[in-house]
Amino acid sequence: MTVTLVIGTQWGDEGKGKVVDYYSKNADYVVRFQGGNNAGHTIKVGEEVYKLHVVPSGVIQGKTGIIGNGVVIDPDILLQEIDELIQRGKKPKLLISDRANIIMPYHKILDGAEEQYLGDKKIGTTKRGIGPCYSDKVARNGIRAIDLTNEDRLKKLLDRILPLKQKLIDIYGIKTTLEQKEILKTYSAYGKRLQEYITATHLELYNAMQKKKNILLEGAQGTMLDVEFGTYPFTTSSHVIAGGSSIGAGIGPRTIDEIIGIVKAYTTRVGEGPFPTELLDKTGQHLQKVGHEIGTTTSRPRRCGWLDLVIIRHSCILSGITKLAITKLDVLNSLPEIKVCTHYNLNGKKIDYFPASIDDVAVCKPVYKTFKGWDTIDSKTSSFFALPKEAQTYLRFIEKETTVPIELVSIGPGRSETIDV
Ligand code: GDP
Ligand code: IMO
Ligand code: MG
Repeated sequence: MTVTLVIGTQWGDEGKGKVVDYYSKNADYVVRFQGGNNAGHTIKVGEEVYKLHVVPSGVIQGKTGIIGNGVVIDPDILLQEIDELIQRGKKPKLLISDRANIIMPYHKILDGAEEQYLGDKKIGTTKRGIGPCYSDKVARNGIRAIDLTNEDRLKKLLDRILPLKQKLIDIYGIKTTLEQKEILKTYSAYGKRLQEYITATHLELYNAMQKKKNILLEGAQGTMLDVEFGTYPFTTSSHVIAGGSSIGAGIGPRTIDEIIGIVKAYTTRVGEGPFPTELLDKTGQHLQKVGHEIGTTTSRPRRCGWLDLVIIRHSCILSGITKLAITKLDVLNSLPEIKVCTHYNLNGKKIDYFPASIDDVAVCKPVYKTFKGWDTIDSKTSSFFALPKEAQTYLRFIEKETTVPIELVSIGPGRSETIDV
């Protein structure tokens, strides 16, 4: 039995969908434990491309997907995703935690309203209602999956919560009336459809571990979007780092055997907030174009820059990462030189840690080491030593600086374009 955790080490979109799909072949259960449909995980198998937002990526390999208690669920989006998978002949085996919080219509309205109110100081959220839903969970005003399955209970909750939300919506000057009857009808109907999946998933996982099953935990977003350790307040609202997986799946922290940190061979970010190695030049545009760096969820172009080892070390420390998976190495093909940030210069002082204040981060100047580039990587390369020598040097440098071994190198979006080191 093994419990393996896969997490993003940067600002999301590191290739978690691809890597989780790859590791799913040995898993019995694949578990999402935080985030919601702000995530967009891409899996490419042959010519088929799947973009999943809430359903765990492992269902494409036919494994049981679990949506854990730490996830926030938009039932409308989840049902659309299930229906699309059924249409494509991939009916998912799915379990949903009875304790997962539900994204309600007012969460989406308020996400948009707050962003609009902030104007040029906005966070650049996905406007999926993620922040307001997590806020309500902590403020104990949440509605959970189990509540959708009992109309009387749902009505009582709406009686208590809707007037509060209406007041907020009115304060923002938004001309929307929350229609209780309509919301009750719609969300009860979601409950009826989702009932077959809703269960105590933490017990399912506990029993699976007793039976020595293999469990794969699928992170969403990346360390720098973590609500505690990311570029706060330009973060998401959940615990992205390894510790979040124990809470969000309902498993003991000592059950986790391996923690795989995914590192995109360069850096990207969607939304606002500081990004020390961002390239606002032709190289940045080149990475954006060659890497097809367009948001999977919102279709916004992703900001691009060089690999930043300060943030990768930050991730390794926070999550106790045991192995690295490097993705999108092929995107660096044909660049004459490739830079890697090893430290920052903060007001004349060399630092190797990520500062807490975004004002400090904003003035950090990256200190780079320059590597010679390589021409191309054959997409059929199946061993580390068959990679161009310069690419091997680049990868070995990442290992040396993080002191974490690389287990996997991805050289294309497809399942087969993967080197098991
Ligand atoms: P996630 O959110 O971490 O799952 O990542 P996304 O799916 O949002 O974005 C990653 C994008 O890169 C997707 O379009 C993947 O198909 C693609 N991708 C993943 N690995 C590789 C790789 O090694 N090379 C290339 N060229 N594309 C990749
Ligand atoms: P995956 O799992 C990249 C970003 C948003 C915004 C900030 C807050 O595909 O890697 P939110 O809607 O969560 O309140 O937005 O977080 N963000 C992501 N960026 N990949 C993601 O997920 C993201 N999920 C949220 O762009 O900057
Ligand atoms: Mg994504």
